[in-house]
Amino acid sequence: MPNPKKIILDCDPGHDDAIAMILAASNPHIQLEAITTVAGNVEVEKTTLNALRMCDILGLDVPVAEGAAEPLVREREIAPTIHGKTGLDGPKFPNVPRKEVSDQHAVDLIVEKVMDSDGDLYLVPTGPLTNIALAIQKEPLITEKIKEIVVMGGGTFGNWTPTAEFNIYVDAEAAEIVFNSGVPVTMFGLDITHQTIATEEILKQISEIGNPVSNLVSELLAYFSTTYKEVFGFDGAPIHDACTVAYLIDETIFDFEKVRVDIETEGTYTYGTTCVDRLHVTGREPNVKFATELDYEGFWRLLVGALRA
Ligand code: BDR
Ligand code: CA
Repeated sequence: MPNPKKIILDCDPGHDDAIAMILAASNPHIQLEAITTVAGNVEVEKTTLNALRMCDILGLDVPVAEGAAEPLVREREIAPTIHGKTGLDGPKFPNVPRKEVSDQHAVDLIVEKVMDSDGDLYLVPTGPLTNIALAIQKEPLITEKIKEIVVMGGGTFGNWTPTAEFNIYVDAEAAEIVFNSGVPVTMFGLDITHQTIATEEILKQISEIGNPVSNLVSELLAYFSTTYKEVFGFDGAPIHDACTVAYLIDETIFDFEKVRVDIETEGTYTYGTTCVDRLHVTGREPNVKFATELDYEGFWRLLVGALRA
């Protein structure tokens, strides 16, 4: 087996962030170096608490560092309509996690880990891009050492406004910095993540596994599916964030196109839109590897397999 890929998961758990974490923690192709948290689905104190709770459940011994509480420029916006008040509504967790948060700020940890690396570290943001942008601003040299930034965000349509996806909308100024950083960016937008819906059949497969982690995921998905049905009229919940880790494990699950993506930071109706130039009308150099198609069976085989393991 090739050397595992070293990653920092920068997240805002979040039901699908938690599932991305499970996949990263359980797969031998991934070496989870750290978890960093950001305000997104809920306030950063809560996303940190949720990350610590997930580490307890998974027996994960990696640093968890708390990051930005606010976007770079705009007012904070959160998503309790989708993830509940706690950010991980559904299961019951012990009040106080056993694992403690790191003393280091997420941005310092990211800078330190990247600068100490051999240029082989992947950043995997599954929330707003505030921490990554702050790290680039603090130490621009990291852009020469980050292997790849694997983002869940954006798309050719929106889920927070008609044209903007939540993670990009919450901090479009940060997204602009990341997408223009010169670091290779691989993007899992709504076009691909909406292909991952956890159907009733998938929920049944997960509930039949019957170990503590699969039981937790069943409870998470019961809640998450309900909000997606109520808010969007979907047949179940898309597991957006897990696409990033699935790609790092087995990139043949996805098809990609190289495209130019620019971030709208001004528009009256379009703030936070990722302008994805799929027909190459701008004639500008592509800056993003954009996921277009998914092998649904392959994706779920990986996820269900992780829960069985
Ligand atoms: C993204 O927003 C959050 O609700 C999810 O965790 C995911 O990262 C989807 O738009
Ligand atoms: Ca997320």
